[in-house]
Amino acid sequence: MKVTVTTRSGRELIKGQLDLNTNTTVADLQDAIHQKSEFLNPFKKYYPSRQRLTLPHQPQSKGKPIVLQYKKCLTDYTNGNSDTITIVFKDLGPQVSYRTLFFFEYLGPLLLYPIFYYFPVYQYLGYETKHVIHPVQTYALYYWCLHYFKRIMETFFVHRFSHATSPLSNVFRNCAYYWTFSCFIAYYVNHPLYVPVSKFQMKIGFGLGLVMQASNFYCHVILRNLRGQNGNGGYQIPRGFLFNFVTCANYTTEIYQWLGFNVATQTVVGYIFLVVAASIMTNWALAKHRRLRKLFDGKEGRPKYPRRWVILPPFL
Ligand SMILES: NC(=O)c1ccc[n+]([C@@H]2O[C@H](COP(=O)([O-])OP(=O)(O)OC[C@H]3O[C@@H](n4cnc5c(N)ncnc54)[C@H](OP(=O)(O)O)[C@@H]3O)[C@@H](O)[C@H]2O)c1
Repeated sequence: MKVTVTTRSGRELIKGQLDLNTNTTVADLQDAIHQKSEFLNPFKKYYPSRQRLTLPHQPQSKGKPIVLQYKKCLTDYTNGNSDTITIVFKDLGPQVSYRTLFFFEYLGPLLLYPIFYYFPVYQYLGYETKHVIHPVQTYALYYWCLHYFKRIMETFFVHRFSHATSPLSNVFRNCAYYWTFSCFIAYYVNHPLYVPVSKFQMKIGFGLGLVMQASNFYCHVILRNLRGQNGNGGYQIPRGFLFNFVTCANYTTEIYQWLGFNVATQTVVGYIFLVVAASIMTNWALAKHRRLRKLFDGKEGRPKYPRRWVILPPFL
C-alpha cells in the first residue's frame, strides 16, 4: 500500500510515498513515520505518542477530521477499495506519561505545604519568632499530606489510564495550578495570626473529609476494575456504591473532602480553591456523562446508560 504523509498545510512530511504491506496497522505506520523522520532529521523525534494522524479534511464536510485509531488497519480507512491513502500528520509536541504528569502535580503540594508548618517562613516575613500552633493546624497538615500521598499512590497503583501520554506543556500548567494554591492555602492556615474554628466544627470538618477521602479511594478502585491490566477495555458503565446514583462519584467525593477540609480550617483561599476545583471537575463530569450516554445509547444491542446525577445531586 502506498501512503502519502502530509502536514496540515499540505506539505509532504516524508518525501515520496511510504510503501507498506496491505495489512499494516496505524501503529505500524506511526513507527514507520518515526523511523523515516528521524533518519531525515535526527533532531525531530516524532515518536508514536507525539503523532496525531487523520484523514484529509474534505472541504465540504463540516465535522472534525477522522482521527486514525492505532489498532486499526490502514485498509479500514479505504474500505479495502484502494491501495493508496493520504494521511495528515500533526505534531502534538513532546509528551510525558500520565503518571509523570500526575506525580509532579501532586509532589508539589506534598512538599510545599509542610514548609509553612515546620520552617520559620513567617519570621522571615517579620512576624514574632514564637507563636502558638493550634491543634487544627497540625491536623490540617496531616490531612493535607494524607490526601496528596493517597493521590500519588493511586496514580501508580490504582488508576488504569487509557491515554498513554499528555503534552509536556500540561506539566507546567497543572503544576502552576496545584503548587500556587498549595502555597496560598498553607500560608493562611499556618499563619501566626490564624484564628481556629471551634473544636466541634473542626471535628465535623475533618470527620466528613476523612469519610469522603476513603469513599474517593473506593470509587477509584471501582473505576480500576472496569479495565484490564494494561488499561484495555475502553469505557464501561461504572456500577456499585455511589456510582449507582452519580456518574462521577469520584469527583463528588473529591469535592466533599475539600469541603470537609475547609469547614475545619476555614480560610477564604481554601474556599476559592474548592470553587475552582469543583468547577473544573463539573466541566469534566459533564463531558464524561455525555460520553457514557453516547456510548451506551441502548441501540443495536448496546446497553442503555441508566438515569443518574452527573456530579452533585440534587443540583446536577
Ligand atoms: N482537586 C482537583 O482539582 C482535582 C481535579 C481533578 C481530579 N482530582 C482527583 O484526581 C482523581 C483522578 O482524576 P481523573 O480526572 O483522572 O479521574 P477520572 O478521569 O474520572 O478517572 C480516573 C481513572 O478511571 C478511569 N475511568 C474513568 N471513567 C471510566 C469508565 N467509565 N470506564 C473505565 N475507566 C474509567 C480513567 O480512565 P482514562 O485514563 O480513560 O481517563 C482514569 O484512569 C479524581 O477522581 C479526583 O479525586 C482532583
